Amino acid sequence: MHPLLKRAALATEPLWDPLWIALYRARHGYRAPIPPFTNRDRIGARNVGWFVEGGRLDYQTFRQAIERHTADPLPALSVLDFGAGGGRILAHFAGHESANGWRLAASDVDPTAIAYLRRAWPQVDSRVNASEPPLPFEAGRFDVLYAFSVWTHLPPEAQARWLAEAGRVLRPGGLALITTLGFYGLELLSHSAAPLEAEWWGVSADDLRRQGVIYHEYAVLGQALPEKELFSGIQGSYGVSVHDPAYVRRAWADQGFEVLEIIERAMHGHQDLIVLRRG
Ligand SMILES: C[S@@+](CC[C@H](N)C(=O)[O-])C[C@H]1O[C@@H](n2cnc3c(N)ncnc32)[C@H](O)[C@@H]1O
Repeated sequence: MHPLLKRAALATEPLWDPLWIALYRARHGYRAPIPPFTNRDRIGARNVGWFVEGGRLDYQTFRQAIERHTADPLPALSVLDFGAGGGRILAHFAGHESANGWRLAASDVDPTAIAYLRRAWPQVDSRVNASEPPLPFEAGRFDVLYAFSVWTHLPPEAQARWLAEAGRVLRPGGLALITTLGFYGLELLSHSAAPLEAEWWGVSADDLRRQGVIYHEYAVLGQALPEKELFSGIQGSYGVSVHDPAYVRRAWADQGFEVLEIIERAMHGHQDLIVLRRG
């Protein structure tokens, strides 16, 4: 499609969106809150069905990992969704909350996401955080922190600072569930037609094995383009990071965590899941 036509189609999308949401609800009997188009666009989940069903799959994968690694009954857990965006995954934890009694919190750099979460899920303690630590939560508060596709966007130095911060807000023995892009993610990026991902063309699996982690900042960040709108609240460098699981096993264990599991493509066949226990 011509770029101008594409831009026009995108500009009218928010007008049609309530109709897509209503149709989805009618077809699937789904009653829980669904964020508006602009919030979903910022987390790469424009499609309503994908937002709900992809979120449910990722919720199930996280939940099963929590159940594998904690002896505590789930209702007793205090859980943080770090980089929660429009609550794609949080919605499924929160939907079970009344039955299970999880104590849920969420944070994100994007104030529009947090404003939405506060309206949609008032029982969740949702807070805006800055692009750099600390989080606005006290030390040792959480049993579990999960983060879907946040480390996939941070530069390596910021990843280390945020890993230390995850350790601070977790109680000793608490779990961090973090997703990364691994070799499969690299395969997709290196064949992507998206101009936003042009830096990845030609990056090979051998490059990743040699370097351990590879990061490229989004070129649009430094330019006056409408795509910058997607990065609400982001300060400093932001882009795409890809991790070799073998590197994660070595490097993240040096940062006060025991690496319990690395499951390649665990997140609906796409991102890798890293499960860490705070020492
Ligand atoms: C790809 S989206 C994923 C959103 C959500 N986790 C999901 O799975 O739908 C990445 C999210 O991380 C947030 N984010 C990026 N850097 C962050 C940081 N330093 N602290 C908190 N959130 C951050 C973005 O604002 C965005 O909502």
